[in-house]
Amino acid sequence: MRQLALALLLAAIVTPQTAVAAQAEPSVSDPSTKPKAPTLPIITDDENLYKTFGERGGLVQIMDDVMVRWLANPRTRPFFEGADQAKLKGHLVEQFCVIMKGPCTYSGRTMAESHMGMNVNEGSFYALVEELQKTLNARKIPFRAQNRLLAALAPMHRDIIGK
Ligand code: HEM
Repeated sequence: MRQLALALLLAAIVTPQTAVAAQAEPSVSDPSTKPKAPTLPIITDDENLYKTFGERGGLVQIMDDVMVRWLANPRTRPFFEGADQAKLKGHLVEQFCVIMKGPCTYSGRTMAESHMGMNVNEGSFYALVEELQKTLNARKIPFRAQNRLLAALAPMHRDIIGK
């Protein structure tokens, strides 16, 4: 059951059906609708998510762990080995904190801007998410809380894949 739910969620991240849910919000990659501030989905129905993930300290540890995994995975390594990893991890902590309604401000670029020209494909996207799930499992983050996070990240795929 858990595997099925996970498979469905992952499929929803990259399949066109997500566009139905995503259409409500204009894509930030469309210059005519590009907002001045980065667009970030906010989780509104789980007030405890930030605490469940261990607040800021927990998010810092999650990013430290997952970056090692992204650098070890041949599908994600080429993207991350030349990046400013410390800066990226800092922005990811901020982004995840905002998504979880924590007391943070995101100071990075939009997803469209920061992934422009990278040519990320679906395989790399899946690999990145899978490594994140390994980190979250290792840290014993409850499956339901993981799903909340992944559901918030999923709409971003349209600004990241194939740019
Ligand atoms: C839902 C999925 C993703 C999220 C939430 C996400 C989030 C972010 C954030 C917040 C930044 C920092 C932007 C900044 O510093 O201004 C970033 C940059 C970056 N992302 Fe992603 N990302 C995702 C998917 C991916 C994928 C699939 C790849 C490649 C396999 C990737 C590779 C990178 C790289 C290499 C950078 C650094 C760019 C630079 O330093 O110029 N990301 N991402």
